[in-house]
Amino acid sequence: MSDQFLEYVEKHQEAFIDRLRKAVAIPSVSSDPGHRQDVFRMAEFLQNELKALGADNIETRDPGMQDFNGQQIPLPPIVLATVGNNPAKKTILVYGHYDVQPALKEDGWSTNPFELVEDEQQRLIGRGSSDDKGPVLGWINVVEAHKSLGLELPVNLKFCLEGMEESGSEGLDAIIYKEAKGYFADVDAVCISDNYWLGTTKPCLTYGLRGVSYFHMTVKGPARDLHSGVFGGTVHEPMTDLFAVMSKLVAPNGKIQVPGIYDMVRPLTEEEQRTYDNIAFEMHELHGAVGNTTNIHDEVRDVLQARWRFPSLSLHGIEGAFYNPGDKTVVPAKVIGKFSIRTVPDMKPEKVTELVCKYVNDEFAKLGSKNSLEIKCSHAGNHWLSSPDHWTYVAASKAVERVYNVKPDLTREGGSIPVTLSFQDALNKTVLLLPMGRGDDGAHSINEKLDRSNYVQGTKLLGAYLYEVAAAKAE
Ligand code: BES
Ligand code: ZN
Repeated sequence: MSDQFLEYVEKHQEAFIDRLRKAVAIPSVSSDPGHRQDVFRMAEFLQNELKALGADNIETRDPGMQDFNGQQIPLPPIVLATVGNNPAKKTILVYGHYDVQPALKEDGWSTNPFELVEDEQQRLIGRGSSDDKGPVLGWINVVEAHKSLGLELPVNLKFCLEGMEESGSEGLDAIIYKEAKGYFADVDAVCISDNYWLGTTKPCLTYGLRGVSYFHMTVKGPARDLHSGVFGGTVHEPMTDLFAVMSKLVAPNGKIQVPGIYDMVRPLTEEEQRTYDNIAFEMHELHGAVGNTTNIHDEVRDVLQARWRFPSLSLHGIEGAFYNPGDKTVVPAKVIGKFSIRTVPDMKPEKVTELVCKYVNDEFAKLGSKNSLEIKCSHAGNHWLSSPDHWTYVAASKAVERVYNVKPDLTREGGSIPVTLSFQDALNKTVLLLPMGRGDDGAHSINEKLDRSNYVQGTKLLGAYLYEVAAAKAE
């Protein structure tokens, strides 16, 4: 690989950080219609960066409209771009997302979430720094370095950047299937940098993700909100019913209570058990990432298996509930409980939905309430497993050794990137997850950060990976 490239990245890190600063300043929160314009602005920003770096062709695809509680709002574009078009070279498709999770200073951030700040520990703090603006810009930095040095990229690069990942990638699947024989026709492998190292010190390559099935459970009671002094004790209260049913979904020890769920989980073999023994992860890393010692499991192996090998059920919130500070003696007339299940091989999303709906309806029936309950699955993305012995993983492993002087761990993850499976199925190509940030980056949490060294070394890693791909023999 070109040493010039590595030197360039090292020398130009301040400019790369400026690029990240500009990106973080755009609050591209996909879940909030009030920020939809910002998501569009972020798409513009990326197109302009790619244009300035001479990308051969930049196109967008329109995923159409989103139905947001009955209101129709436009979905942000899928940005497609190509750098290099040499049939003698391999073509790598790079996917990333330019939307972010919501963030408010009041949530407990030490600084304004949409202003990139570097602290004394050289951590770049800001919403999206690690998830996923840093990694997306990492690829753009690689392109910049080559253009400035007058070097050709060792492979052809294709970009596919979306602005709805944090909200379930609405509209993207149809575009991927449509472009499989179009824009993506000549792709040899897909690389996604949208996850994190397991811990804080050792890089990894990730070959599996959990799926996620998201549920909304609506309990409707009286025709309007009521005064609890006048009506308390006289009507079936929706919130009471909702709590009763929600409390039956998962036990405090994390065990899912829905009958039949664990029957679908692929049994763990002894051989697979052994693969957990050599993974570099320690309990203090979990404690550091969580912020204290509220862990369920005390053994690393159990933690890792709970995170990526077994399903979990999390309760997320209740729409319509009173949540402001102070007292309000209201009886909400309608409440919507939200929860999701992270799924693993061989769970089938349709079967999960069927089991959950039956159980919830049965538990509600037991309450003898005159209220109504409706449950629906709002989004289901399947789990994903890849083959870590494929040439793209071998190339990535060599790139990690080159940049970090260590062999990466092969890991799976507990989070979900629905598009991973779509690329694998639609293009029939291997997908690699090549993370840039660390396990304690706080994606989706307050004070999200990307360490300066992860951004800089990570940019080198993405470039090094392309060189190793070019040198690899395709099977
Ligand atoms: N970057 C994450 C996915 C991720 C998280 C991978 C943790 C590995 C470890 C991504 O941005 C994300 O949060 N995805 C959502 C998808 C959902 C909305 C369908 C998730 O996992 O909740
Ligand atoms: Zn992400």
